[in-house]
Amino acid sequence: MREIRASAPAKVNLTLRVGPPSPDAYHPLVTVFEALDLREYLTVRTARTPGIRVTTDAYLPDGSYDEATTARMRELPADSHLAHRAAKRLQRLAMSGPWGQSAAGIDIHVDKHIPMAGGMAGGSADAAAALVACNELWELGLSGQQLELLARSLGADVPACLVGGIALGTGRGDHMDPLDEGAQPRHHWAIALAHEGLETPGVFRALDEAQGPGGTWKELTQPSSEEIGALTGDSLGLAPLLVNDLQETALRMRPELADTMRAAQNAGALAVILSGSGPSIAALAQDADGAHRLAQALEGAPSVAHAFTTRGPVPGARLE
Ligand code: C5P
Repeated sequence: MREIRASAPAKVNLTLRVGPPSPDAYHPLVTVFEALDLREYLTVRTARTPGIRVTTDAYLPDGSYDEATTARMRELPADSHLAHRAAKRLQRLAMSGPWGQSAAGIDIHVDKHIPMAGGMAGGSADAAAALVACNELWELGLSGQQLELLARSLGADVPACLVGGIALGTGRGDHMDPLDEGAQPRHHWAIALAHEGLETPGVFRALDEAQGPGGTWKELTQPSSEEIGALTGDSLGLAPLLVNDLQETALRMRPELADTMRAAQNAGALAVILSGSGPSIAALAQDADGAHRLAQALEGAPSVAHAFTTRGPVPGARLE
């Protein structure tokens, strides 16, 4: 038996600019991702029984076991899991090479720490970790670039979880230009989770509906070099640049998110933003103590299910 362990980070979008939908229904994005030190841990193990099996243990941000999410994950068919889809791609390669039939069976176990449907790319992180783990398990020797191509075909956020650090995403948000590798986390965040998740396609659809057929969309422009300097600099410089074009729509869908944002502002956040397509709210603090104070204040807000602190940027998917 051979066993490999890998991890991949959650993300927050420091900027998220959205253009009008393309014929394939995807929206062109110009976005800057930051990988957070909240990671999914995934173990892949060769098995005698053919097939790809996925089991999950979910944890709450404080590290305690999350029985409800674990039970919900068990109900899902294995092939709906993005880690399963990622492993399947690499399994095809492995089985057509020296591994042959001995690559026919694997067991995947996910220790899930990133909240589901929270706008923090939990499923995408599973896929990114699965790519890195299976590449090693089956000794495929795929390069970072080859893994990135595969990541892109699995979902728009998977490359961001693979690459990590701070990275500019264009196209569907899946063409990555690394801006900072994430060796030195320096942005301190408090994240507030909502009581109920939001599905990404629904948020994009609501944005389209609000725009209407002849809607005016802002032109998408790349960040200037000055802006990139601020986005990769300290929290004070970063704060005024945080922007998310999905925020207004998500707030319309979940008006109580405005209460969460207000609670973070009142508690002294440098800036507050919707994370990705939400409903998680990310509040930026000047330092670790500030982030703890924000998380404490948010924990008491009725619209918040859980609040916790995290930092970014951190490296992307890697072997453990
Ligand atoms: O690629 P992924 O499966 O993560 O995307 C989930 C959904 O989010 C898509 O089906 C689409 O509805 C929406 N999306 C979008 N434009 C993007 C990324 C995602 O409309 N650039």
